[in-house]
This record gives sequence, structure tokens and C-alpha cells, in this order.
Amino acid sequence: MSWVDVAGAAELPDSAPLPVDLDGLALLVVRCGEEIYAIDDVCTHDGEPLAGAAVEACEIVCPRHGARFCLRTGEALTPPAYEPLRTYGVRIESGRVLVERPQD
Ligand code: FES
Repeated sequence: MSWVDVAGAAELPDSAPLPVDLDGLALLVVRCGEEIYAIDDVCTHDGEPLAGAAVEACEIVCPRHGARFCLRTGEALTPPAYEPLRTYGVRIESGRVLVERPQD
């Protein structure tokens, strides 16, 4: 397992998703309070980016049809999305946000 440095933890504003390119994978890194999460930047309803999505109560809300996803688990919480978002491991080290590089 390897980790990729994507941002300074202090640079991440609360509830404002940061787009990150991780070896060609489009991710969003999102702070919610003290926690930081990494998810695919793809709504599972239409396969398009979640760019511009709002974050409310540690859920990300698709800007197109309003599906909500849990940032922690990726679970689709409301229609019209039913499939979960992929999530990635995150850790903070020396003030930097590290995201787990996927194996596949
Ligand atoms: S495209 Fe995201 S809910 Fe429809």
C-alpha cells in the first residue's frame, strides 16, 4: 500500500471539495470538521463529476439531481443514485494529507 501527498491539511477549507488527480483518477478530498475524506469525483447516477457539489453534515450532494452520499462510507443515501461512491484511505502526516493509492 502506498500513499500520495495531495495537500496541506491546513489548506483544506471545511466542506469545500478539493479536486485531486491521483495517477489519472479524479478524486475529491473533503474536510468535514476534524475528519478528511477522499472519494471518487464521479456521481454514480450519471458517471459525471461531482464538481460544484455542496457538502452538508458530512454528506456530499450531487449538483445535478441532488443525490446525497456519505463521505465516510460512500453510501448512496438518496435517489436517484443507488450505487456507492468509491472511498479511499486518508491519513494526516506532518500536516500533510495523504491518500491511499488504489491497488487496482
Ligand atoms: S447526476 Fe448525480 S444525482 Fe443525478
